[in-house]
Amino acid sequence: MKVLFSGIQPTGDLHIGNYFGAIGNWVEIQFDYKTYISVVDLHSITIPYDSGDLPDRVMEMAIHLYACGIDFDKTILFIQSEVPGHADLTWLFNAVTPIGELERMTQFKDKATQHRQNVSVGLLDYPVLQAADILLYKGEVVPVGDDQVQHIEFTREVARRFNSRFGKTFPECQALLTKSPRIMGLDGEAKMSKSKGNTIGVLETEEVIWKKLAPAKTDPARARRSDPGTPEKCNVFSYHLLVTGHEEQEEIRVGCTTAGIGCLDCKKILLKNLMKVLDPIRDRYESLTKKKKMVRDRLDANADRCRSVAKQTILEAKEKMGIAPVWKI
Ligand code: TRP
Ligand code: SF4
Repeated sequence: MKVLFSGIQPTGDLHIGNYFGAIGNWVEIQFDYKTYISVVDLHSITIPYDSGDLPDRVMEMAIHLYACGIDFDKTILFIQSEVPGHADLTWLFNAVTPIGELERMTQFKDKATQHRQNVSVGLLDYPVLQAADILLYKGEVVPVGDDQVQHIEFTREVARRFNSRFGKTFPECQALLTKSPRIMGLDGEAKMSKSKGNTIGVLETEEVIWKKLAPAKTDPARARRSDPGTPEKCNVFSYHLLVTGHEEQEEIRVGCTTAGIGCLDCKKILLKNLMKVLDPIRDRYESLTKKKKMVRDRLDANADRCRSVAKQTILEAKEKMGIAPVWKI
């Protein structure tokens, strides 16, 4: 089986952009690979953050991931900082990474602009840590959103550079994009993200979601109920594509273009279908929060497994670089 690796920052609550853009895909394909998923707390400290609630955010993210359907037994879900090899390998890669490549990364440039007063070395080095995440387990397949493609390309470059200088050690990984890598927010203007306040949370109840969905923008051409619309111009329809079956989608498409269905009814159908996905996630979440000890035990065991894989890779990389073991007699 090929090795799959992906990571997610401990942002707190998940929204449907995270779910349909990434996590749902991990859930679907986890059985086809040797799957590692990491809560990347070391990445999250590269911009200003609250150290007081970080432990809770990390644990919450792990529970959310299990609630979304990450399999307890199949997937090795672990917390990045509990495996020291990530930082070790980062340092080895740092030594062979030209600084100019990091300065050119789009995510770095964006975040450096956002946090102008606080641009840390860690923020610049972020992609090297990400490469180390993947290559520590010799990851081959990396399912991510489209904003991460550049980092995966960079990871390949790190592997190539290391291999050509020190001998074949790391595979060249492939990014695996979801069918819907970019989910727009409820405002229809920006990608769904917590900072934009345009999200639907995966744990939100039907009532809460309806309060957000009912006033959401639709195709502006449908100013009146009798005006026909174009589903492709409607953000609500883009959500239907995620949760509504083919037949019902076609009914809506026809209804919209002939003014046979009103936007409110269309949204009600969306709500019904969305809750079919979200209700089970919330149920699992509620039962998992009562079993935090069990989750914690599993994360411990998984970190153990990761440490033993990591140890091998680090040893191999160090030997090839000529830095260990030094003159062991
Ligand atoms: N940078 C990724 C993001 O912000 C998270 C991440 C860290 C990651 N390490 C990774 C993703 C390794 C894939 C593989 O989404
Ligand atoms: Fe959008 Fe549905 Fe209204 Fe058409 S009927 S504009 S798809 S909400």
